[in-house]
Amino acid sequence: MLNVGIVGLGRMGQRHAEQLALRTRGARLAAACSPVESERAWAQRELGVSALYDDFAALLRDPQLQAVAIVTPTTLHAEQTIAALEAGKHVFCEKPLALEVAACERVEAVARRHPELVAMVGFVRRFDRHYQEAKAQIDAGRVGRPFLVRSQSCDMNDPDGFFVRFAPTSGGIFLDCSVHDIDVARWMLGKPKALRVFASGTIALHPGLAACGDVDNGLAIVEFEGGARGQFYASRTMAHGFDTNTEVIGTAGSVSVGVGGQRDRVQSRDAAGVHHRVLVDFVERFSEAFQREMTAFVAACTGQAAAPLALSDATEATRIAVAITRSLNSGQVEAVV
Ligand code: NAI
Repeated sequence: MLNVGIVGLGRMGQRHAEQLALRTRGARLAAACSPVESERAWAQRELGVSALYDDFAALLRDPQLQAVAIVTPTTLHAEQTIAALEAGKHVFCEKPLALEVAACERVEAVARRHPELVAMVGFVRRFDRHYQEAKAQIDAGRVGRPFLVRSQSCDMNDPDGFFVRFAPTSGGIFLDCSVHDIDVARWMLGKPKALRVFASGTIALHPGLAACGDVDNGLAIVEFEGGARGQFYASRTMAHGFDTNTEVIGTAGSVSVGVGGQRDRVQSRDAAGVHHRVLVDFVERFSEAFQREMTAFVAACTGQAAAPLALSDATEATRIAVAITRSLNSGQVEAVV
């Protein structure tokens, strides 16, 4: 049994805490950390966690823990990952690993000094059955040579503007949302090096984002070495639901995942047209993938399987998202450096 401690019990942290406590074979949620008293009380009340900490350094000193799940604001990920590795804990860290490439590289350097420890970043789409099936079809040659990935991460509009409050630590829409599409594109295309990017964006509904230079709808084009291209769209303002999908186009066909944001297999028809229900949010869409992601992490920590993702994947995703964000700000084509 792997004893895991979690830090961060917000929107995403509570989901991971539930996975670890209730649904991850071979793992036990042994401790939880948050500076917010009501969040610690939630972990005790709902999940029966008794070792509660308001300070991450104290969590790391807990001798019963072999692994830590880091689900804090993105600005804290790199330093907390480094501290956890140096305390001898395996690390699962939510995406993105950091908002700067240099911070990702610092984490990689520390991880290299601890090859006995697992350090994995949570690109959840890699654990989704449907994305895995698309990847298997590409690897089997079904689309020929893949050369274009069109991928979008689109949230339903939230009139309360949670993400406006979240924007100062998220790194902006490309580092927060498109980083998933970037990782999917690298995965589907066989990890080509990104060379140049261009991005543009607009604020359609949430003027509060302007204060931190962010947009609520962003578009990016990425040129990869060897001719492959990526086209990414991220939105916070979908009227109909959570519409996150990907299409990979190749010389002999194409494959797509999730087009239309369909929630289930029910379709109804009437005088107004053909209707289906749409997913509400990422939790609904990826709940099974989150479970498989945590199971894969635990299997890697207990030596049953290799970690399915390398830290360098997280570094490259940040590198490309940073260049895209630079292009959004400059209005120019930017080199990926
Ligand atoms: P949130 O703001 O809801 O939660 C952040 C949590 O961190 C809170 O529990 C807060 O009390 C805690 N925290 C803040 N400062 C802390 C500190 N110094 N020490 C310990 N805990 C601290 O944010 P949310 O939405 O849960 O996002 C957290 C991370 O998860 C972000 O990096 C985000 O990018 C990622 N995320 C990933 C998703 C995915 O699809 N894989 C979806 C949503 C979020």
